[in-house]
Amino acid sequence: MFHPQRKELSVKRDNSRDESVARQKEAFLNKVLGSALGAFEVFTIYIGARLGLYDPLAQGDWLTPGQLAAVCGVHERYGREWLEQQTMAGILEVEDASAAPEQRRFRLPPGHTEVLTDIDSLDYLTPLVRQLVAATIPLEELLAAFQSGSGVPYESYGQDFRQAQADINRATLLGELGNIWLPSLKDLHTRLMADPPARVADIGCGAGWSSVAMAGAYPKLSVDGFDLDAPSVEMARENARQAGLSDRLNFQVRDAGDASLAGDYDLVVAIECIHDLSDPVAVLKAMLKLIKDDGFVLVADMRVAEAFSDQGDEVERIMYGWSVLACLPAGMADTPSAMTGTVMRPATLERYAQEAGFKGIEILDIDNFFWRFYRLRQN
Ligand SMILES: C[S@@+](CC[C@H](N)C(=O)[O-])C[C@H]1O[C@@H](n2cnc3c(N)ncnc32)[C@H](O)[C@@H]1O
Repeated sequence: MFHPQRKELSVKRDNSRDESVARQKEAFLNKVLGSALGAFEVFTIYIGARLGLYDPLAQGDWLTPGQLAAVCGVHERYGREWLEQQTMAGILEVEDASAAPEQRRFRLPPGHTEVLTDIDSLDYLTPLVRQLVAATIPLEELLAAFQSGSGVPYESYGQDFRQAQADINRATLLGELGNIWLPSLKDLHTRLMADPPARVADIGCGAGWSSVAMAGAYPKLSVDGFDLDAPSVEMARENARQAGLSDRLNFQVRDAGDASLAGDYDLVVAIECIHDLSDPVAVLKAMLKLIKDDGFVLVADMRVAEAFSDQGDEVERIMYGWSVLACLPAGMADTPSAMTGTVMRPATLERYAQEAGFKGIEILDIDNFFWRFYRLRQN
């Protein structure tokens, strides 16, 4: 039976549902638009960083497109378009927007220079941008891997990705690993300073900045770095040479899960690499064989939440992003794979550690935005 009141009620409900869907659509549309704008900026910052366009603009002088083109060796028309686009994006500033296009002068505002050009700064974000772009290099391979369940080998991401990985952690490791984090672990610090000289194994050492940082801070220490990726090991050797530390740093191309690894190390570290491993338990077993009975096993990995939720913070969002684009596919390139991904929660590490023979894990009181620090206990 027709009931006018009911009809009105249901129309109201429909209207309000329509309104709430429309609001939701509007908010989402703006979110996607914002993401697309951000992506344009990521790609164009990448161009500026790779071609060295920011360096002359960071000197404080205003430059015309022609001057930038001459200094950086780029075509003037491309240079002009990029300068204008960067100004629209709020990255550069223009002295007089009404000047003729060729006469307009641009510069990097003083507050933007450190973030884009200072490799020694903890706030240097260019490597993040560079690595994001490099993560899209094997996109077709990634799409195929999604469908087949295979992986994308680390090598497929190329030298740009590797270099960005090195640069992204460089300032933090050089500034904090040997100067703040290790000194905060009092007994370990005392051992690293003492005789006989302590020995350290750096698992998944990449371009070696963690090894350089430790040897730089502790003058007696020697470090053996292990990494599966030969070009990264070459970079580590070169970084050690440039730091004048080659006599105490030794780098090997080696699968850290190699069952024949054994040693007598005072400290075994694995910085931001356990979540990348196809077989983390094999590597943790090797770490247990490498460490002395009274040694210290230190793992730094991503400071993700303890459990999944739909209210993740920025760290969680960033780590899921890396996981989808790079870490999970790289970790699935070898079979069998633990298929961990970047979002390795503490309980997952604890499970791997126990399977490897460790007695447990302890979360250390070391503060860092991206990393959580764990001590893996042998007894
Ligand atoms: C995210 S990178 C971290 C590198 C470095 N520790 C840093 O902080 O920049 C992970 C590293 O783990 C290495 N890796 C992956 N699987 C490995 C394995 N089975 N044995 C040794 N290294 C491995 C990769 O080659 C890569 O250099």
